[in-house]
Amino acid sequence: MLKNDKKVTIYDIINKKGVEPIVMITAYDALFARLFDDYVDIILVGDSLNMSFNGKKDTLSLKMDDALYHVKAVLQGAKHAFVVVDMPFGSYQDEKSALKNATKFIKAGADAVKFEGGLKAAPIVKRLVGEGINVMAHIGLMPQFVRKEGGYKIKGRSEADEARLIEEAKALERAGAFSAVVEGTLSAVAAKVAKSVQMPIIGIGAGADVDGQVLVWSDMLGFFDEFKPKFVKRYLDGANLVRTAVEAYAREVREKTFPSEEFEYKI
Ligand code: KIV
Repeated sequence: MLKNDKKVTIYDIINKKGVEPIVMITAYDALFARLFDDYVDIILVGDSLNMSFNGKKDTLSLKMDDALYHVKAVLQGAKHAFVVVDMPFGSYQDEKSALKNATKFIKAGADAVKFEGGLKAAPIVKRLVGEGINVMAHIGLMPQFVRKEGGYKIKGRSEADEARLIEEAKALERAGAFSAVVEGTLSAVAAKVAKSVQMPIIGIGAGADVDGQVLVWSDMLGFFDEFKPKFVKRYLDGANLVRTAVEAYAREVREKTFPSEEFEYKI
């Protein structure tokens, strides 16, 4: 448990490499950000919110304005953690639009932006970092490429893929990224990526031999229980706890046992 009032800075994150694992979790609102804030290093306002919060089938339709709304909400609850926000699909295709949109998140109070992409993303990273914007890269399985790739495909299965991932991580680091997420990648390959760079590599579905872990909150707390990816560990049976509680509430209202006297105002 961190229980530390000091705000986490980019240097706290960078300096954890080789010292202690970085803990990152997603949040999309103030309520949950406040609950997570004492225990994690980084809160990610992930574009996964389009699926787990908005109920869409992938992340692609998330709009800038909606992402901004959620960042502002998270910042109300996160007083300690370093707050990173995902740039929505289509908001960073070129340096100009990336700079314009990333600036909106930083002005709202986010500590860094994250976006997906390998070698092609490096010049965009360089431009943003040059303008004073902290950038976390995202390589390996990139959910914003789901339609192009015809599904979510695990990476690092060939030697060429392994070499490409290492090359991408190095290029993104040279461009100025302070950290990178590596998603959905064979553990042994993710470990080699982490060893090949100085910046911390935060894994999701990428095994233990990286510099930190990230999970989507609604997956790891069991609120999204329609499907469980192999890499998700459920730390709570959230959906069933909610169903049981709401079922009890509905029953008591119908039976007129709620509200009982203790919940009434009396003279
Ligand atoms: O959007 C998200 O939640 C993410 C994580 C899966 C890393 O990018």
